[in-house]
Amino acid sequence: MKRYRLAVIPGDGIGREVIPEGMRVLRAAGHRFGFALDAEELPWGCTYYLEHGEMMPADGLTALRDHDAIYLGAIGDPRVPDHISLWGLLLRIRKGFDLYANLRPIRLLEGVTSPLRDRGPGDLDILFVRENTEGEYSGLGGRLNSGTAHEVALQTAVFTRRGTERILRYAFDVARTRRRRLTHVTKSNALQHTAVMWDEVVADVAGDYPDVRVSRLHVDAAAYQMVLHPEWFDVMVGSNLFADILTDLGAALQGSLGLAASANLDPTRTSPSMFEPVHGSAPDIAGKGIANPMAAIWTASLMLEHLGETDAAAAVFDALRRVVRNGEIRTPDLGGRSSTADVGEAVVEALRP
Ligand code: NAI
Ligand code: MG
Repeated sequence: MKRYRLAVIPGDGIGREVIPEGMRVLRAAGHRFGFALDAEELPWGCTYYLEHGEMMPADGLTALRDHDAIYLGAIGDPRVPDHISLWGLLLRIRKGFDLYANLRPIRLLEGVTSPLRDRGPGDLDILFVRENTEGEYSGLGGRLNSGTAHEVALQTAVFTRRGTERILRYAFDVARTRRRRLTHVTKSNALQHTAVMWDEVVADVAGDYPDVRVSRLHVDAAAYQMVLHPEWFDVMVGSNLFADILTDLGAALQGSLGLAASANLDPTRTSPSMFEPVHGSAPDIAGKGIANPMAAIWTASLMLEHLGETDAAAAVFDALRRVVRNGEIRTPDLGGRSSTADVGEAVVEALRP
């Protein structure tokens, strides 16, 4: 039997509620498709920070390295500044393992009402590819004269040709597995250095993919058109910040952040890739048992696909889809009254052959 070594970081808030449901579904999938999961749960996050003064141990990346994948819930706690928790864990793993491709599927599932009037499942099926290691989130910068009237804050966006080219190639490759349409998100009217280079690299790379139809949108126009013409889009690719923002818009269009899944991939497979729902720790609903675990379950399906368990990945997604379509069991964010565990159980049930 195949065995996978999984590092599981439930994290904070609703991360601790949705990840157990994702694990239940994963184990059920393993049972049905003949693989086993050796899961090592790591208690890292804000509670850990409050006790130890760091979000994860200094040698945390070493502890993660010999796993096949990382499954993460969410990080964030009102008692810890968000930039500390984000940089101390999530960004450390994404950057430390060079997980440069962040995949975020945005799909309107049957049975979900989109905030877009008169739109159905056929109208929204986008795969967002976000650059995940540099750009606006390079971390370069500093502050001068803090707290004085002469204070200066600099945050430098870093775009390397290598980093830009590899994410674009990844997006083109992904477009080939779908409808062969790629929209790249830019802002080369205002950002005359970084975004103009981005556009040039797109033009270079596009030469190797004559079968993919490429279009360009400035990020502001992209936000506008995603709302008015979601059916235009197949694969979208953008920088760290632009895609961060547009994928939350996408999550709203697909009905709830509770449905938004994501994968942080190292396409070279040198390091373990990390799989996490898009949403945060949701302190406003944490501890109530009403968080939607569907994003975490969809994320688990992305993880299975990456591990090569394609049948199991498809079955998990299909089970999730049937529970959504049926509509009886759903959490309050989707207008229902079920609990987090009810949803997990319903998906496990739907997964039975
Ligand atoms: P959030 O995603 O935690 O919550 C935004 C809104 O969506 C809230 O009203 C929440 O109740 C709702 N929501 C989110 N996930 C849901 C789910 N699964 N089911 C039902 N409703 C859901 O974003 P927010 O409030 O901006 O951030 C809260 C904390 O999470 C902060 O500390 C932030 O830094 C952190 N955060 C962490 C992320 C991560 O770990 N990847 C991503 C985004 C935020
Ligand atoms: Mg975000």
